[in-house]
Amino acid sequence: MADQLATLLLEERRFPPPAAFAARAIGTPALYHAAARDRLAFWEEQARALDWITPWTSVLTWSPPHARWFDGGRLNVAANCLDRHLTGARRNKAAIIWEGEPGDRRVYTYWALAREVGRAANALKRLGVVKGDRVAIYLPMIPEAAIAMLACARLGAVHSVVFGGFSAESLRDRINDATATVLITADGGYRRGQVLPLKRIADEAVAQCPSIEHVVVVRRRPAGEGDESFAEMTEGRDHWWHRLLDRESPDCPAEPMEAEDLLFILYTSGTTGQPKGIVHTTGGYLTQATATTRYVFDLREEDIFWCTADVGWITGHSYVVYGPLANGATVLMYEGAPDWPERDRFWKIVARHGVTIFYTAPTAIRAFMKWGTKHPAAHDLSTLRLLGTVGEPINPEAWMWYHEHIGRGACPIVDTWWQTETGGIMITALPGVTTTKPGSATTPFPGISVELVDTTGKALAKGGGFLTLTEPWPGMLRTIYGDDARYQATYWSRFPGRYFAGDGAKVDDDGYWWLLGRVDDVLNVAGHRIGTMEVESALVDHPDVAEAAVVGKAHDLKGQAIAAFVTVKEGVKPSAELREDLREHVARKIGAIAKPDDILFSADLPKTRSGKIMRRLLKDIAEGRALGDTTTLADPNVVARLKEQYEDKE
Ligand code: WT7
Repeated sequence: MADQLATLLLEERRFPPPAAFAARAIGTPALYHAAARDRLAFWEEQARALDWITPWTSVLTWSPPHARWFDGGRLNVAANCLDRHLTGARRNKAAIIWEGEPGDRRVYTYWALAREVGRAANALKRLGVVKGDRVAIYLPMIPEAAIAMLACARLGAVHSVVFGGFSAESLRDRINDATATVLITADGGYRRGQVLPLKRIADEAVAQCPSIEHVVVVRRRPAGEGDESFAEMTEGRDHWWHRLLDRESPDCPAEPMEAEDLLFILYTSGTTGQPKGIVHTTGGYLTQATATTRYVFDLREEDIFWCTADVGWITGHSYVVYGPLANGATVLMYEGAPDWPERDRFWKIVARHGVTIFYTAPTAIRAFMKWGTKHPAAHDLSTLRLLGTVGEPINPEAWMWYHEHIGRGACPIVDTWWQTETGGIMITALPGVTTTKPGSATTPFPGISVELVDTTGKALAKGGGFLTLTEPWPGMLRTIYGDDARYQATYWSRFPGRYFAGDGAKVDDDGYWWLLGRVDDVLNVAGHRIGTMEVESALVDHPDVAEAAVVGKAHDLKGQAIAAFVTVKEGVKPSAELREDLREHVARKIGAIAKPDDILFSADLPKTRSGKIMRRLLKDIAEGRALGDTTTLADPNVVARLKEQYEDKE
């Protein structure tokens, strides 16, 4: 972290907003002034951009750490994303332009999307789903994912989207934690030319989910070819999506929801082995998602907005589905990998559809850099006018590459800091206002109160420290599903009176924020959050493993990679086969994204005299650094031996 800080301090490049962009930008300095004058009035103004059935009577009720926004107000999220766009010319505008990985394409106008959502909502209703019920969604990036989410929102059912890359066990645990009654999945999804058999994985999960009454299956694969092996349908429990929808009317009344009624639960990793069900509600969430989409992305009627995130993550919720659709925008949605069939797939899509706003993760940008400039250079990217990044700190080098080779040196870049918990963007440039610095997320969005603190919780005007939020914001998580004590302990206890995000940061002389990564036991692997404890639990679950310690190590492409130190049980011989078996075991328990890159077998792990594993030293070893302070270790030899062993590994 110290090295990283030193390099960032040397960054002196400045990129003022291009004059032509600034001249017509939607976000202006007046927004900052308005929010500074009266934060709550600013958010009320943003909430007024939505259609409310009943206006709110109180903007914020704050009994720390519990916030209620827009109490007394009633609205429906699906009606805001669809119905209100159907009265004028927008009804015939593309809402979703979709490309499947194999090359199939579909376009839904707002009109067509609304009808499909109405049918899906009626189908769910017929299966017995009512307001407040939880519906799990385990789908690839196909339009049905957005349709299913909006259908739930229409009925007031709470969706829990589980990323399609998660394993059967991860899906099972999430379904059970939320006691979902319906699961929506597909017979498969395409990734690098292969079909990921989602229904088969779902069957394995559902076998241990007593709450599930119905499984709805979208047919993604062409009919006929080996249907049975991809979707074995259980009579009475399983239903084909297209058959259910076929019989339904497209008209389904939108349930009037209280502003604080649940909209969705989304699970995310924390510092324990148990993922947290982050709870988001209706009015505040949609207000922040809608306002940030409009101002941060300078969203206009004619834009084609492509956020490359999967709907399984919060970015997909807020910036593929809710934010853009509430604004009546055209969303580009793509199912598969960026390098399929060739490494220019993204640029082909940009050129074919005339994408104007492109929002992706630094890990993807680093991969594009590695693949070389010839891929973007081969396509016409001149429609792009604004670029964004999210998910992890972007190194200035990747920022510059993005600026030059994707943005032709002409597009502002918004580096947006936020979290599953914040619901929407919190720290970001406004593209027509902010002078950007490569590697800095710049300054808080209007109406967002961020403060740097030291280890004792003392506020710092600048320098290095921890990022905290000092005032509630509309899109904030309301609690952890079923575990409010954990909500309070995780976010509000480290620095009393403040929300602690878990990130280290630096604020420079201009008040710009430079994010330095997580300071807790959470890794950020290719922009995905993975708890070290989760991986450790998966490893010790293997019959041959006695003990495991997992750390993150710096990685060129992924930002962080997973390194595991494993002690095997008495009588077990460490081997290359066992190493591979352990990696597979982790993939089975959590998902492929959690597979460790390195596994080192060791007779002992470095522990303090009280028995605590010294992860800091393991990180030094994994990153090939000189060992830090070892004086508190019970046996300093252990760590020296480990270091030698790590350096010798193949
Ligand atoms: C963590 C949240 C919400 C976006 C997707 C990730 C890191 C996110 C940035 C950024 C530096 C960032 C933080 C944060 N992060 N955006 N622009 N610069 N770091 O959501 O899985 O909830 O992870 O991602 O460490 O705490 P998430």
